[in-house]
Amino acid sequence: MSATVSMGLSATVRPCCRLLHLLPKCPHPPSFSPSLFPKCPNDRLAVLRALAAGHHRRPSSVRATVAPASAPDVRRLSTSVESVPGAAGDKAFERIYVQGGLAAVKPLVIERVEEERKEEKEIKDAAPPPAEVAEERAQGREESEAEKEAWRLLKRAVVNYCGTPVGTVAAEDPGAQPLNYDQVFIRDFVPSALAFLLKGETDIVKNFLLHTLQLQSWEKTVDCYSPGQGLMPASFKVRTLPLDGSNEAYEEVLDPDFGESAIGRVAPVDSGLWWIILLRAYGKITGDYALQERVDVQTGIRLILNLCLSDGFDMFPSLLVTDGSCMIDRRMGIHGHPLEIQALFYSALRCSREMITVNDGSKNLLRAINNRLSALSFHIREYYWVDMKKINEIYRYKTEEYSQDAINKFNIYPEQIPSWLVNWIPEKGGYLIGNVQPAHMDFRFFSLGNLWAIVSSLSTPRQAEDILNLIEDKWDDLMGNMPLKICYPALEFDEWHIITGSDPKNTPWSYHNGGSWPTLLWQFTLACIKIGRPELARKAIALAEKRLSIDKWPEYYDTRTGRFIGKQARLYQTWTISGYLTSKLFLENPGMASILTCEEDLELLEGCACSLSKSAKGTRTKCSRTAAKSQLLV
Ligand code: GLC
Repeated sequence: MSATVSMGLSATVRPCCRLLHLLPKCPHPPSFSPSLFPKCPNDRLAVLRALAAGHHRRPSSVRATVAPASAPDVRRLSTSVESVPGAAGDKAFERIYVQGGLAAVKPLVIERVEEERKEEKEIKDAAPPPAEVAEERAQGREESEAEKEAWRLLKRAVVNYCGTPVGTVAAEDPGAQPLNYDQVFIRDFVPSALAFLLKGETDIVKNFLLHTLQLQSWEKTVDCYSPGQGLMPASFKVRTLPLDGSNEAYEEVLDPDFGESAIGRVAPVDSGLWWIILLRAYGKITGDYALQERVDVQTGIRLILNLCLSDGFDMFPSLLVTDGSCMIDRRMGIHGHPLEIQALFYSALRCSREMITVNDGSKNLLRAINNRLSALSFHIREYYWVDMKKINEIYRYKTEEYSQDAINKFNIYPEQIPSWLVNWIPEKGGYLIGNVQPAHMDFRFFSLGNLWAIVSSLSTPRQAEDILNLIEDKWDDLMGNMPLKICYPALEFDEWHIITGSDPKNTPWSYHNGGSWPTLLWQFTLACIKIGRPELARKAIALAEKRLSIDKWPEYYDTRTGRFIGKQARLYQTWTISGYLTSKLFLENPGMASILTCEEDLELLEGCACSLSKSAKGTRTKCSRTAAKSQLLV
């Protein structure tokens, strides 16, 4: 029985395509047969219309947190949002703002956000629509054979739900067990979405955003426990089931995996963050802002933020997560405050700030976002950054300092500086380390986190340049024969045993443990464009191009320099294919990088500089941009 019915609400019209959780689980779903869908609407728009008309209802537990639409508004094409007494306004968020760690931070002026957004919208509205962009491109150079093949494969990977494209499978390797690679992974779909958007094919992305939104709010359990409401699934699958016990009629259902089936039962913390980032990119490139303004979409953003911003026991502004909660979805010693999650979190907060509809009900949320952004950027810029100078400081750290003025705040024992780093850290350049928590600095270099820190402006402009300088300096280690190392260096010997739990997939220089992942190329390309160094991206793409097609687009490469196709790598891995295409498209249209990037925001720095000077001197000093700059941009 559905949660909707159990709350005493009138039963909805049963759509023929729906979410699996309304049905008892079918242990043996029949195999796919296109002729078995007599009941699916042929009209591609029907599913979206059904969504807009509220036929796919949110469960009662979600409705309880939805602010009711106060007046009819054509832009509010909500799902069945109902008025719940006491749910108006932002009760659930109130707690977050008042108790936020940076209560002393100067509240940022909301009107300003509105103004900035208006300006930005004007610029965006002036941007060429995707069809024109596609045409401009088409007039340019001829696609190479590799690109043509990549497009063919990407289109083959498209998953349809009731005749409508909703995503792409993770891999289509005929020679390997599918496991869950036949599912649409949220994080894997992002480069596919970007390739489609840049090519002018926007429907698949809109459908993806709306359907995953429906999955977000569905009831989910891991054993007898229900994870938080805002969680987005790691992946979903379209299943075909007999319609109400019939042997002849079948229906398609979306079956999400929130980690309850995933290997190791890992929580996909990054999914919701990616969803927000993609939603903004979709709006910026299509000009279809109506989508992000819908009540159900606004609610989706809030649910994700609610999960991320709610109070816990943590002392830091960074997000506390379990091991394997992101692209590295197996045990790899990245529990705590891994850089990748912090960079995506920062980026998602910046994107949300642009998209949240400003009204009385959202002011507190926007203030909470600003406070968190200020604190998070300071924390990462200050404590995660290492270069020659900083390593030298850590090397000479005093320990056991008990006071507010401690220099070695996290009580790091200098013996933790790994021997590989002593010689590896270049004179010029630096990077953000993998993780910081009490008495622990994970000095490994994680590519995605560093690149996304550049893209989102989590790092300072100087740090961003230095990260690219380091990558250039350490080209052989990080790019080798195939860009790009997921992390450097690999865990070996006892460390591998202890930290990975002797994981045979994550052996040294393989898979997540120092393997090379071509999908990371698109993020590298974005970072290079942002910093004005596209030639570096071109060099990396040229390297990848030599092998990707010949090697059948593998998921990852092994060995210290990425010479071999990964031991257990899937072939025809979709995000390898789409990552390559997206990199090429961004290089051709560097202006389009702005659909994902964020610029330095001095006002955020100001908030942080104020609170720092207050805590340092015990008095409130006047906030100024100069103070912000001098404290945070050096
Ligand atoms: C692996 C990767 C993960 C990816 C999934 C599907 O589990 O670690 O990041 O999403 O495969 O490609």
